Amino acid sequence: MASTPTGKTDIWSADAYGTKVAPFVATLTNKIVQWLDPQPQDEILDVGCGEGVLTARIASHVKRMVAVDASANMIDSFHQTYPTLDARVVDCQYLDKDTSLCTGTFDKVFSNAALHWILRDENTRANTIKGCFDALKPGGLLVSESGALGNVAEVHAAIIGALVHQGIPVDVARNASPWWFPSLEAMKNLVEGQGFRWLRGEVELRQTELTKGDGGGIEGWVRLFGANFLEILATPEQRDEAVKEVVEVLEGVGRRQHDGAFTVNYIRLRFVAQKQLA
Ligand SMILES: C[S@@+](CC[C@H](N)C(=O)[O-])C[C@H]1O[C@@H](n2cnc3c(N)ncnc32)[C@H](O)[C@@H]1O
Repeated sequence: MASTPTGKTDIWSADAYGTKVAPFVATLTNKIVQWLDPQPQDEILDVGCGEGVLTARIASHVKRMVAVDASANMIDSFHQTYPTLDARVVDCQYLDKDTSLCTGTFDKVFSNAALHWILRDENTRANTIKGCFDALKPGGLLVSESGALGNVAEVHAAIIGALVHQGIPVDVARNASPWWFPSLEAMKNLVEGQGFRWLRGEVELRQTELTKGDGGGIEGWVRLFGANFLEILATPEQRDEAVKEVVEVLEGVGRRQHDGAFTVNYIRLRFVAQKQLA
């Protein structure tokens, strides 16, 4: 696998993400886009933009959009699909160091389904939020939706269990998690700690139907989003065994009785915070 600018494994593939596993991530976004309230004069920074489906939807309503993501795979796909939009490879764990973005000129910073990845490392969490702050004009807004405490908890727990059954110590399995799923209070504290004023926030359970085709479903989900967990296993056979166990365990948990569709309990955390006028 390729790596990100800061040397982490680039687990992302636009084809797996946007086509096979999770097209719903970019489309089940009406509420957060309403909260963003795009205006014709807005200049917006999209943090963790992925392959650009949602960015492009918003870009057609605003003056300027700059989209950033740590994955070269995602940004390559973004450039191919939307060659006229400005998309850049940036590891937002160090957003505060990016002088081309921390210009105090953006009206809004937007992020969908990305902060729970970007904020995973507690040592760099403040950098990201400070970077958002420094990118904004005074009065500008940070508008985000990401995973909340308990997000996809059944999958998260099943993956850790499967790793333990493959001989991985439980603390090592837990630490391999690529996600930070905070409570609303923890997110509020983080954001306020970097100078923002918290305007609104909410947590919502969204039982989400997974895709059905080849490469998708719960197996595709675990292989793509759980890649950082799986890579601590030594062999492809062990990874296949772990994935098989996760799928079998979840089979008894996620099937809807009335139509047999497979769902995962997503819990979303949305908020809007403001960089106060000087
Ligand atoms: C689930 S996707 C969401 C993509 C897009 N916002 C959407 O709504 O479809 C999460 C994205 O976060 C990006 N990401 C993860 N860690 C990152 C980091 N440290 N800096 C920037 N982007 C990151 C991934 O590369 C991936 O494209």
